[in-house]
Formats: sequence, structure tokens, C-alpha cells
Amino acid sequence: MHLRLLALGLALGLTSAQVVSDCDPTKGEDCEPNPAFSTSHNFIFNQTPSYELWENYAGEVTYDPSYGAKFTISAQGESPTIRMRQYFFFGRTEVHMKVAPGQGIVSSMMWLSDNLDEVDWEFLGTNDTHAMSNYFGKGHQDWHNGEEHPMTGMHDDYHNYTCYWTEEKLEWWIDGGLIRTLLYDDAEGGKYFPQTPMRLSLGIWAGGDPELPEGTRQWAGGDTDFDSGPYDMYVQSIFIEDFSEGKEYVWTDETGSMESIEVVE
Ligand SMILES: *[C@@H]1O[C@H](CO)[C@@H](O)[C@H](O)[C@H]1NC(C)=O
Ligand SMILES: *[C@@H]1O[C@H](CO)[C@@H](O)[C@H](O)[C@H]1NC(C)=O
Repeated sequence: MHLRLLALGLALGLTSAQVVSDCDPTKGEDCEPNPAFSTSHNFIFNQTPSYELWENYAGEVTYDPSYGAKFTISAQGESPTIRMRQYFFFGRTEVHMKVAPGQGIVSSMMWLSDNLDEVDWEFLGTNDTHAMSNYFGKGHQDWHNGEEHPMTGMHDDYHNYTCYWTEEKLEWWIDGGLIRTLLYDDAEGGKYFPQTPMRLSLGIWAGGDPELPEGTRQWAGGDTDFDSGPYDMYVQSIFIEDFSEGKEYVWTDETGSMESIEVVE
């Protein structure tokens, strides 16, 4: 079972855990090339971001000059999520966010590629001592990929959660401190190293939803009491840099390797 994608399943009204991608080019599907972000930009969420660049993937997010983007859970079944429309092929993202309190509430940032390479930040509403990082390669389910990192104040203030990604390594940073490095070879000799074009999403979900399996609810810190909400996650700004430059990223075969991705000018 894959917790973050379980949340997306929830958002899409699916009944069980499902790993989803609109089109997976490594599964014999005939997919469109990935539109390239191909630049760097600092998105300040003091107003609704451009529709050409961001989509409302689930629920509703509000934007305000004083606090940025606000993701609220006020009732069962809600999981507001926004997603970039363009992809980056190696790059850096810097999320300035204040995560949501609340039992069973999960605040998250996710990068996801079309064949389910993935990079995550996750925060539990009842855990004010640890942030969580995670990654997956080619959708391969591995419970050993996640790590917990001591920190405090994530529910009280905005912090800088940065991920830096090259062909050689993946780094997670909190407020300018490097807390985790994944080398290419560390991920099964590179096989499960995230290496295909990614799209970023930001969202909040209730892992403590009583309709979810007990294991999920326990992982999330217990059952969510929706009457005690609303529970809010805030994102002030996000800086995104694509290390590749092109018009689109084309999947030339079904290996899911970085070499199989063609950068089209
Ligand atoms: C927070 O997470 C850490 C790491 O998983 C764990 O050791 C600690 O017990 C958790 N705290 C709470 C209050 O759940
Ligand atoms: C956020 O952290 C990254 C990594 O340390 C750093 O490069 C960047 O300058 C920080 N951003 C701000 C606005 O301080």
C-alpha cells in the first residue's frame, strides 16, 4: 500500500489504494510528451496562480496576501490538492509552508512522474518533533525508503523545505540544513532512483479518515475528529527550477531510465 497515492485515490473517490498516473509510457500506453517547465520561477501564493501553470487537482484552495495558499479540511472526504501542469527533469523546489495540526491529518508535498517515480515531504498533524521524507522509483513499493528527521515548530510557522535533484543525487533540506542525501547507487544500483520528469503537487489529506484501513490510520497518528477542525495547511511560496531546457520531455522507450528521456528543443 502506498499512503500518498492512497490519498489521491481518496480524492478521486476510489475505494481502495491505487497507484495512479494519467498515462504510464512504460506500460505500453501511448502517452503525450511531458510539457516542460524549462525555467525557474518563484510562485508567491498571495493570489490564485495562473491556470496555465497550476491545476486544482482536488477540492478548493484559497489564496490570500497575508498567509498564502490555504488548504483546508473541514469535513470527511476533503483533500484539497494543487498540481503543476508542467514537468521538470532534474531540478530544485523550495516550499515555504506551515503544516496542519490535527489527529490523522497529513500535510504533504509530492513530486510524481508518469511512471511513478516519486519524492515526498510528509508531516503528521500530531507529530511536532519529526518531518518525514520519502521517495519511490518506478512505483516500486518499498517501506524502507521513508526517513524521519528531527525538527520542531512545523505547525507554528513557515519553514523552507527544499529538494535538490540531479542525475547523481537527491537531497532534502530544512531551513538551509541538509538532512538527507540519496545517491543514485543507493537506490538499488540506480534502478529505483527517481530519474524521470516530475510534476509537483501540494496537498492535505486525512489519513485518519475512519473509512481508511486501520494501518493507515495508525500511521497517520489516529482517527481524525472532523468536528474539531477545520485543519489548515498554508503555503506562502514555492520556488521551482527545472535543470533541463526544452519544449517537452519525450519518453523514447519503456525502460523508465533517464537516458530514455529525450529533451526536445
Ligand atoms: C513522531 O515521529 C517520530 C519518528 O517516527 C516518533 O519517534 C515519535 O514518537 C512521534 N511522535 C508522536 C507524538 O507521534
Ligand atoms: C531555502 O533553502 C535552500 C537550501 O538550503 C536555500 O538554497 C534557499 O536559499 C532557501 N531559501 C530562502 C528563501 O532562504
